[in-house]
Order: sequence, then C-alpha cells, then structure tokens
Amino acid sequence: MRIFLDTANLDEIRYGARLGVVSGITTNPSLVAKEGTSDYRTRVLEICRLIEGPISAEVVSTDVRAMLEEGRRIASWHPNVVVKIPSTEEGFEAISTLSKEGIRINQTLCFSVNQALLGAQAGSSYVSPFVGRLDDAGHDGMAVVADIVAVYQHYGITTQVLAASLRHPLHVVAAAKAGAHIATIPHKVLMAMVKHPLTDLGLAAFLKDWNAVAKAPLARVG
Ligand code: E4P
Repeated sequence: MRIFLDTANLDEIRYGARLGVVSGITTNPSLVAKEGTSDYRTRVLEICRLIEGPISAEVVSTDVRAMLEEGRRIASWHPNVVVKIPSTEEGFEAISTLSKEGIRINQTLCFSVNQALLGAQAGSSYVSPFVGRLDDAGHDGMAVVADIVAVYQHYGITTQVLAASLRHPLHVVAAAKAGAHIATIPHKVLMAMVKHPLTDLGLAAFLKDWNAVAKAPLARVG
C-alpha cells in the first residue's frame, strides 16, 4: 500500500518527501483554503515540484458543463495532476467524459460500494472512500473500503482504492489489511506512524551500553 499525504501545506509535504515515504498528495478545497490561499494552481504546481507522483486537485463546480471545463483546466496544470470529482450524478457524467479524454480522475466523497461501482464503470482511476467521515456518522468506514476492494478484485476492476479521511495510525493498518492500494493521511498521522516509544527507549539503551565501554564515544565505531 502506498502512502499519500492529505494536505496542501508545503512544510508538511517537504517533511514527507525528506523521509522518502510519500508517493503522492491529495488536496481538497478545504485544505487549500486552510493555507490561506485561493490560488489553487500555484499551490498545486509548488507541490508538483516537491513530490514526483499523483497530485489530486479538486473541482469546485457542481454542474456537468462547468465540471468538464474546470476538470480539463486542472488537468492541464501538470502531467502528474489527477482531477478530483465528487460522487454525484453530475460527477459520474463528468468522470465518464473526462476519463475518455485520457484525464485521470480521483472519485472523491465516496461513501458506498455502489458509488465505487458506478465510478469504476465511469472510468475513475482512483476511488476515495472517506473512512473517518463514515465512522463519524455511525457507520463502519473500513468495512466499506474492504467491500470495495473485494468487489473490484472479484471483477478485475483496475480502479485503485484510495482510503481517505483516515484519522489515526490504526486506520492505516486497517486500510492495509483491507487491501487498499493507497492510504492518504494527514501529517499528524504520518508523525504518529514514525514514532514508537520502544524504538526511542531501545536506542537510548544501546547508546548508553556502548558509551560505557567506548571511552571516546563513536570514535571507535568501525
Ligand atoms: C481525501 O482526499 C480528502 O481530502 C480527505 O481525506 C478528507 O479527510 P477529512 O474527512 O479528515 O476531512
């Protein structure tokens, strides 16, 4: 399972890039607005310079004609840009037209297997089930991810399952066990995945033991 960062914050993206563990980015209008900019194109191009991989940018139009025009414009920004389109009636129509033009689509705001099935028929390259928001509404978000993976596998559907709206490290583990192709996570979840108290304690103990026998610490290594 690949790890994407769900953010439009450049420092967070630089951190993920530096670790070498992030292979794509998902953004949405709320995440870009949080950065205090309405220049979506400039921000996406800055992100494309930091990460070599799929960068999702979302349309804000809701009718088909405007979504098509906006989707084409977003796709023209950079070859790595993937256009995010919501799982609405108008969205499926737009996905169908844009995917036939060779534009890669991340079908977003997906909350059911049925929506994922429709998106795959329409030509979505990625489908994003929103786990945390389903959990918030009293549903089992990860069960929806697992069901989409199973149904796609059953029919040999090549749309990639991108587990989204993940809120904590256990969500990431569950997404991996469910067979999601990608997990997109906020910076704080990445930080939580990196850290383990036993790693820190173990490292401190190794160094303490070593320094007790090595009069000049590190000088005698090797
Ligand atoms: C995914 O592409 C979305 O941007 C994101 O995962 C939504 O997460 P949230 O429900 O925490 O806002």
